[in-house]
Amino acid sequence: MLSRPRRNRQSAAIRGLTTETHLNVQHLVFPLFVLEGANIRSEIRSLPGIFRFSPDNLLREIDECMNLGLRNFIVFPAVSDALKDQTATYSYAPENFYLRLAHEIKKRFPECCLISDVAMDPYSSDGHDGLVRNGEIVNDETLPILAQMSLAQAEAGFDMLGPSDMMDGRVGFIRQALDEKGFTKTGILAYTAKYASAFYGPFRDALDSAPKSGDKKTYQMNPANKSEALLEADLDAAEGADMLMVKPALHYLDVIHLLKENYQLPIAAYHVSGECAMLRAACNNGWLDFERAMPETLLSIRRAGADVILTYFAREFAERFPNGI
Ligand code: PBG
Repeated sequence: MLSRPRRNRQSAAIRGLTTETHLNVQHLVFPLFVLEGANIRSEIRSLPGIFRFSPDNLLREIDECMNLGLRNFIVFPAVSDALKDQTATYSYAPENFYLRLAHEIKKRFPECCLISDVAMDPYSSDGHDGLVRNGEIVNDETLPILAQMSLAQAEAGFDMLGPSDMMDGRVGFIRQALDEKGFTKTGILAYTAKYASAFYGPFRDALDSAPKSGDKKTYQMNPANKSEALLEADLDAAEGADMLMVKPALHYLDVIHLLKENYQLPIAAYHVSGECAMLRAACNNGWLDFERAMPETLLSIRRAGADVILTYFAREFAERFPNGI
């Protein structure tokens, strides 16, 4: 035997030399849920270990993460039903607590990267990402609403906007609206290949944002499709997206790989709520070892080609692996 692959595995030092994939806290984005009020820290039933915070506690959480070297956050608002309507007007209302909080976060932590969610669902009485008319989610009439929401978010200080709505043409529409108002530095993290997935359940529990009727299959992608992800990526890249995202992550590693091989833009992957919940449940049951399964899971997403990973385990990774893996 001339070739013995085990020679390169025989000690920690040699394994260190031959490690192909690295993961560091700087690659991670921590999703956070915020709701109005004070002194609230309520655990999400279907996503143990993750909380909905009132703004005061969310600022504390961010402070603690920053001290761990974790400085990228995507924030989602849980809006009370009384503030929801068909056209999502609260999404750009001046008194919107989410926008005020963004302003406060960037004032206190100017060096963080703060990312928003652009979609109608947290603010919509229909619970859909786009405008509902006669039971249909209408595309072109949704775009100006998304643009208005985007401008309000840019104004509030978000560094990057994350359109998660999957309407056609929205990246270009938002980019143009931002540029016209001088927000040329505000980035767009496009949810490029976002699938109509069963793995968003705990997220919808957290925000109470499940669709009131129907499902999201007329705008989110069919889980069976891969070539279509290239079409979406072509459009988002041409429309000015700064990063392309695949979502979910673990069940779509092939799509992450495909986009990484075909685009020069950074590729992000969203390790979504249901994917995190599965692992957490198995670990809490004593069936898997969180200390080993969590880093291996994140590494697999990175190995597939993700430059950036959005994961509910970001803080726990930062606590355990300050020097990365
Ligand atoms: C809303 C949105 C969803 C997620 C991110 N933004 C839910 C959905 O599309 O229904 C899911 C994230 C997760 O499950 O962690 N536009």
